[in-house]
Amino acid sequence: MKIAWIGTGLMGAPMAARLAAAGHELHAWNRTGARVEPLQALGATVSPSAQAAIGAAGIVFTMLSDAAAIRATVLDPPAVALAGRTLVQMGTIGPQDSRDLAAAVEQSGGRYLEAPVLGSTPQAAAGELIVMAAGAQRVFDDVRPLLEVLGPEPRWLGAVGSASAMKLALNQLIAGLTASFALSLGLVRGLDVSVDEFMAILRRSALYAPTFDKKLARMLAADYARPNFSTAHLTKDVRLFLDAARPLGLQVQALEALTGLLDGAASRPQPEDYAALYAVIDPRHAGRGPGPQAAAVPAPRLEESGP
Ligand SMILES: NC(=O)c1ccc[n+]([C@@H]2O[C@H](COP(=O)([O-])OP(=O)(O)OC[C@H]3O[C@@H](n4cnc5c(N)ncnc54)[C@H](OP(=O)(O)O)[C@@H]3O)[C@@H](O)[C@H]2O)c1
Repeated sequence: MKIAWIGTGLMGAPMAARLAAAGHELHAWNRTGARVEPLQALGATVSPSAQAAIGAAGIVFTMLSDAAAIRATVLDPPAVALAGRTLVQMGTIGPQDSRDLAAAVEQSGGRYLEAPVLGSTPQAAAGELIVMAAGAQRVFDDVRPLLEVLGPEPRWLGAVGSASAMKLALNQLIAGLTASFALSLGLVRGLDVSVDEFMAILRRSALYAPTFDKKLARMLAADYARPNFSTAHLTKDVRLFLDAARPLGLQVQALEALTGLLDGAASRPQPEDYAALYAVIDPRHAGRGPGPQAAAVPAPRLEESGP
């Protein structure tokens, strides 16, 4: 299969690497060249432009930040010809943005599938992403063997927009769970209650979510560098959720309040993991490593992951 892969950021690079390692002819492009070059070692061709990558392939994957980046890269340049090609959009964008993209691609004579993913960089590298796809079922059936290289059981959810909506529903949970955990952790540490005991009780309760342990080490160490999933992207996703939820009359005040905290976390100097929400929620521990009590917490064995 001749594949164009557009966007080799944190997620795109390991996903493209899996397709190249599976023996597919991969033509990859990234705006920042240094992030795409490592794929050459796996036999991929680094294309000089998105247009060149698309022109060399029958199927085009995009793993870009947002809808504007997708449009700028695969739709706006007049040289791009999607006619007769299938575009598989895998980033997190809003349902309406995805429907608009589908219409534009189909107008150009191409086919469109949205296929956002749950799971982060470790799952991308291991081919264990949860892939949620939507669009014509025939397109899904055609693309499915490639999606299976990225995640074991890709799911088809119906018309374009359904998978984007599903992804936003899940990412809203990431934001809410992380903020909620950070607040409880802040109280426990602030009042000198044992973090070790807090975690032991939480793990045995129905309130526990594995994401708590996955982010605990970062929060205790105040280490948000080398993000798995950036605060900026989670902030984007919460705003996309709000845009989709408000017209439904959903009461989104709690999530609106969270955007203020996320903006605070996203404005910290370096691109950081979204676990940095804790630094904003508990400023007393924003820049300090773990205290002696926190050091007693057994290091979580769960491999850290983002969404
Ligand atoms: N990280 C995760 O755990 C995760 C999990 C599931 C879904 N997602 C979603 O997947 C998408 C990618 O996430 P990521 O973590 O891989 O992000 P990332 O590391 O920030 O990569 C973003 C990619 O988009 C490119 N890009 C951004 N703006 C562009 C523009 N105007 N023109 C051309 N290229 C542009 C970047 O190019 P440069 O390299 O030149 O900046 C890079 O290739 C996002 O929608 C994110 O929400 C992320």
